[in-house]
Amino acid sequence: MRFDVITLFPEFIDHCARIGVVGRARERGLLDVACWNPRDYAGGNYRRVDERPFGGGPGMLMMIEPLRECLAAARAAAVMPGDTPAPLIHLSPQGEKLTQAMVRKLASQPRLLLLCGRYEGIDERLIEREVDAEVSIGDFVLSGGELAAAVLIDAVGRLQHGALNDEQSAVQDSFEGGLLDCPHYTRSESLGTAGVPDVLLSGDHAAIARWRRQQALGRTWLRRPDLLARTTLCDDDRALLAAFSREWLRAQAVPTSK
Ligand code: ADE
Repeated sequence: MRFDVITLFPEFIDHCARIGVVGRARERGLLDVACWNPRDYAGGNYRRVDERPFGGGPGMLMMIEPLRECLAAARAAAVMPGDTPAPLIHLSPQGEKLTQAMVRKLASQPRLLLLCGRYEGIDERLIEREVDAEVSIGDFVLSGGELAAAVLIDAVGRLQHGALNDEQSAVQDSFEGGLLDCPHYTRSESLGTAGVPDVLLSGDHAAIARWRRQQALGRTWLRRPDLLARTTLCDDDRALLAAFSREWLRAQAVPTSK
């Protein structure tokens, strides 16, 4: 998969895409990340890329022309099989909220173009004419689209086949299957097995799988009931969750000694 990122801060994207799973995916040739700087397409001695908005008001907007030329160069840099144009995604707080379901869909694309805004944003006409989708990473405002683009590249990049050392770990992720992940424990020299649920030490793989499923259901019930409300549970899951909630309510009722 290939990402082409239109950004005034290519070093930032490049740095993020060299780290961890995404960096390894790049080294393995599973992922390509190229950056395109609108400043390289700006004219004049100062290579200006910002402009005052019509109608006045605070702040500046990104200029259309350098962006448009930069975008054309990025689009021309790679041709995908079947000559299908790569979608252009504008990272914006006004976009559709990024979810794991969207990440999965994006991960099946051979190429994505990401447009990172700076200043107060981008001229609406460029968005209307060039952008295929707007994506937000949450209900808060960042000072630019780069962090959001790095988030998207990470979430999508790690799903590329061969990027994770154990493909199962993506299947167990939070949000896959509409649930949060169960808790995890590891060997610890200082803590030993204290606080580790007995079942995880039992070697009984069926019981461990059941416990993990129950914890995923229970955690989602406690922390993200909105997710649970959108998930259809089978009879087994309902029984596991009922047992979890009974136990949790009983524990809440026991007065704690201080
Ligand atoms: N740019 C600024 N804020 C953003 C957000 N929340 N998501 C995506 N892009 C952004």
